[in-house]
Amino acid sequence: MKMDDNIKEVLIAEDEIQKKTKEVAQILSDEYRDKNPLVVGILKGALPFMADLIKEMDIFLEYDMMDVSSYGTAKASSGEVKIIKDLDSSVENRDVLIVEDIIDTGRTLKYLQDMLIRRNAKSVRFVTLLDKPSGRVTDLTVDWKCFNIPDEFVVGYGLDYRENYRNLPYVGILKEEVYY
Ligand code: PRP
Ligand code: MN
Ligand code: MG
Repeated sequence: MKMDDNIKEVLIAEDEIQKKTKEVAQILSDEYRDKNPLVVGILKGALPFMADLIKEMDIFLEYDMMDVSSYGTAKASSGEVKIIKDLDSSVENRDVLIVEDIIDTGRTLKYLQDMLIRRNAKSVRFVTLLDKPSGRVTDLTVDWKCFNIPDEFVVGYGLDYRENYRNLPYVGILKEEVYY
């Protein structure tokens, strides 16, 4: 059985993602040229976008990955996140660019931004493939985004349903019968 069979609708096609990623990468290259930024991908969802994005940035940069997880049900009340894998290097006086696949409530990034500022990063800014503004509960500023999406359950290009579908090359909406 193919993964495609469980997709109701393609929301953002592969060529749209690639085209927009190139545009954003160009803007980021101009912004971060000569700053040797530390580009930080948030596992696991950010991996496909991060890989495509950095290949289109023709500047010197370093990259690293972080893995974080929400504190179970406490997420809703506290916004606390647990660091599963921290950065390998210091962010002191570095320009940090965090890469995400999707921003929903904004709690993950708010927490990380506060943490990296406390560690004396020079700047902490965000680029995301998808933004779901209807989910936001924090006053996070999203610096660069590729696409806004409606309040739908989307999968693909890093986004999962029970860990599957991350390897789809596009972003799609799952059929209801898959999760009911
Ligand atoms: C998802 C997504 C973001 C975060 C966004 O990750 O990849 O990291 O949630 O949500 P928020 O804005 O409400 O904080 P998830 O925790 O599902 O882990 P995954 O990337 O490994 O799937
Ligand atoms: Mn994630
Ligand atoms: Mg997930």
